[in-house]
Amino acid sequence: MTLQLARRLKAVKPSATLSLNAKARALSAKGADVLSFAAGEPDFDTPEHIKDAAKAALDAGFTKYTATGGIPELKSAIVEKFKRENRLAFAPEQVIVSVGGKHALFNCFQALLSPGDEVVIFAPYWVSYPDMVRLADGEPVIIETSAADRWTPDPKELRRALSSRTRAVIFNSPSNPTGSVMPRKALEGLAEVLRHHDCLLISDDIYERLRYVNEPFVNVANLGPDLAARTLVVNGLSKAYSMTGWRLGYAAGPKELIAGMQTVQDQSTSNAASIVQKAAIAALSGPDEPVQKMVKAFHARRDRMVKGLNAIPGVSCLEPDGAFYCFPDVGQLIGKRYQGQPITGSVQLSEILIDDFLLAAVPGEPFGAEGFLRLSFATSDEKIDKGLGRLSDFVSKLQ
Ligand SMILES: Cc1ncc(COP(=O)(O)O)c(C=O)c1O
Repeated sequence: MTLQLARRLKAVKPSATLSLNAKARALSAKGADVLSFAAGEPDFDTPEHIKDAAKAALDAGFTKYTATGGIPELKSAIVEKFKRENRLAFAPEQVIVSVGGKHALFNCFQALLSPGDEVVIFAPYWVSYPDMVRLADGEPVIIETSAADRWTPDPKELRRALSSRTRAVIFNSPSNPTGSVMPRKALEGLAEVLRHHDCLLISDDIYERLRYVNEPFVNVANLGPDLAARTLVVNGLSKAYSMTGWRLGYAAGPKELIAGMQTVQDQSTSNAASIVQKAAIAALSGPDEPVQKMVKAFHARRDRMVKGLNAIPGVSCLEPDGAFYCFPDVGQLIGKRYQGQPITGSVQLSEILIDDFLLAAVPGEPFGAEGFLRLSFATSDEKIDKGLGRLSDFVSKLQ
């Protein structure tokens, strides 16, 4: 048999972050002293009270299928979370629980897009957005932003990018990969443009809790009931509660869209794991101190990594206001020679770092930002210092 894979797969790449992580893990398994700044996950353990809730659910035999979109108690906890922390009012039928925020986004595009429909994405973007849109037969429309503008999109460019085929615009603040937090004023400028264009707004708030600025968190749905009525807010437990492996995310938004996403989920994964749903109630309704403790630690590590990066010649890094990524500009290193060969781009730079310096740093190119690297500071001070030492060693060998 000549196996023919679906045409839609041809336009899609495997996740660059997941493949670099796999390479780092494989080298570690062979005994190499790899330092990984590639992971998109906190290095803390899941808080005890959340683990206890999962154990209690298991012991109580809560191990059967649940309603596809989540158990009512969890939906209530999510509704309460939105009210308490985001000043947003949703009815339970406007909420869906999925197998991670990624899954909620995937279901949204499957429910929303027809061939040729467009989704506006600001670059640098999370690697999965364009490919999830393509997997739903949609077309990503990319709007560039720059470090010089602190990654804030220009409303004029947004106006130009919108068309009769635009079905959605994605916001992600704090951002993966830049760590930038969109200031309220900038968001208002973009919202003004969007008020004249009828499309869905997607607010991916997965890094909401990981911020190092004092201003209150704001998303596009907070800017007025007209915008809130057409926003899908996506969030999850992975980053705030150090629960990446548990796979639980959720979304809230227009009732018809949630119903469409539920149909996709009905016919694919069904419900998120039953015991994880019980743990999610404990996460969203329980004590907040573990999150605050983690944020404090990330804040100090961010300062350490930014300082270390800016001390390396040819590397410059803006201070990220959120998430756990530094996104240094390494453009000055590209074109220099390493072992006699010119470095052609961030992908090659990342390959040299992992192969010759056992340092995993994700190239900017798959995030739509050539000339940058993404380094996670969700790791110990000791590893940050050691890893930056290796980067510095590499730079000293360039000609
Ligand atoms: C920007 C962004 N959105 C969504 C997700 C999805 O997270 P999860 O599926 O673990 O909830 C991630 C994970 O890396 C992310 O970086």
